[in-house]
Amino acid sequence: MAKLASGRVTEQSSELLDRFNASLPFDRKLYAEDIRGSIAHATMLHAQGILNDSELSDIVSGLQQIEKEIEEGSFSFEIGDEDIHMAIEKCLTEMIGDTGKKLHTARSRNDQVALDFRLYVQKNTLRVKSQLLKLEAVLLKIAKSNTDTMLPGMTHLQHAQPINFAYHMLAYMSMFKRDIERFESAYLRNNYSPIGCAALAGTPHPIDREKTAELLGFEAPTINCLDTVSDRDFALDILYNISVLMTHISRLSEELILWSSSEFGFISLSDSYSTSSSIMPQKKNPDVPELLRGKTGRVYGNLIALLTVLKGLPLAYNKDMQEDKEGVFDSVETALLSVEILTAALDTMTVHREKMAQACRQGHLSATDLADYLVQKCGMPFRDAYKITGAIVVEAEKMEVDLSELPVEVIKAFAPCVGDDVETFLDLRHSMNARTSQGGTATTETEHQIAWFAAWLESKARE
Ligand code: ARG
Repeated sequence: MAKLASGRVTEQSSELLDRFNASLPFDRKLYAEDIRGSIAHATMLHAQGILNDSELSDIVSGLQQIEKEIEEGSFSFEIGDEDIHMAIEKCLTEMIGDTGKKLHTARSRNDQVALDFRLYVQKNTLRVKSQLLKLEAVLLKIAKSNTDTMLPGMTHLQHAQPINFAYHMLAYMSMFKRDIERFESAYLRNNYSPIGCAALAGTPHPIDREKTAELLGFEAPTINCLDTVSDRDFALDILYNISVLMTHISRLSEELILWSSSEFGFISLSDSYSTSSSIMPQKKNPDVPELLRGKTGRVYGNLIALLTVLKGLPLAYNKDMQEDKEGVFDSVETALLSVEILTAALDTMTVHREKMAQACRQGHLSATDLADYLVQKCGMPFRDAYKITGAIVVEAEKMEVDLSELPVEVIKAFAPCVGDDVETFLDLRHSMNARTSQGGTATTETEHQIAWFAAWLESKARE
């Protein structure tokens, strides 16, 4: 196989080595970034007097032609070309002759791959972020129509205190907001240009790295070339950010699965985002949230895989680093698809308010309110109030009623200081709406949170 770069190694490589060594089958995904980077590099070489006018114009039009061929599917990828960088450069040289060979002046594949991969990560960081903003808009919409929808708030998956469904959705909004901010900060942290670092030590050619950085939309060139060609922190950042995002998606998925079971019956996923069983005709399965929960494992694996690849590497570039790409591509595609389908599934789900309200009448959700009443109205120390409330709950259990439905007389027998107004305090909706402290679940407070998130989303839309 004719090789573009056959320097020290003069014997033909074996077909087995070509297959083992090549990244072309997967890094061809980077063709647009590679061409964009090469055009910027050539433009800079021209501005520095390293390429003349016609050389630049041949290189640029050749690269544009190659991009067109790749997009149309007529470009022939050969495994012996090893990677997308070599494949494009070889084709360029075949197309425009010796001028093509000048493109690689003051550049190495080490800074070239660092550039292409970083451009890919930066672009997809913004894509995941904008998908997440759509998810946030749907969560906000659900919240707005459910500020009065009461459901049992849980700890240890046991009924704890009544909360409203909007409040529950806003908890997820808060999580995804932090995810958005993580993607934003990673974008800023990594927005520095690697090109011009060459193999590891810079170059004697009079290049202008500020110029390529500017042409490619980076803040500035990186500071130290040895670090730059060895650095894959930007890839770790996106893998970590996607891992945390998938953790949040997985937790929400788990709740959707539970809520759509007949035991809960809090929500139904729409038929267009549910599947059926191949044998049990009555079944409607929550495959979407199950798959979202399942895919989280693979995404974590991609993060651990790259951390492990990098941990023992001496500076600078080592071929191990070619293993950096597939996991990132996979996590990015998983994240984009996951956020999109979660958004659609949420947007089309039905909330069963009655079922949620009914569930609140199990588990004596206003017990804390009774204890608080005994403290406030009877002046009891909290621990005593706690104990008496416990005894009243046991009595309610015996009578097989919820505390909120227990006759006032029964309560008075345990605590004579109790007045008739205790009934109000045992009312579940009263219990929910009593939690007016900042960040609490009362409808009034939830509405403040909704207004806050709405303003935040609007400010994001204006960015
Ligand atoms: N295909 C390589 C990669 O993906 C490109 C860089 C190769 N550089 C080298 N000196 N072999 O990492």
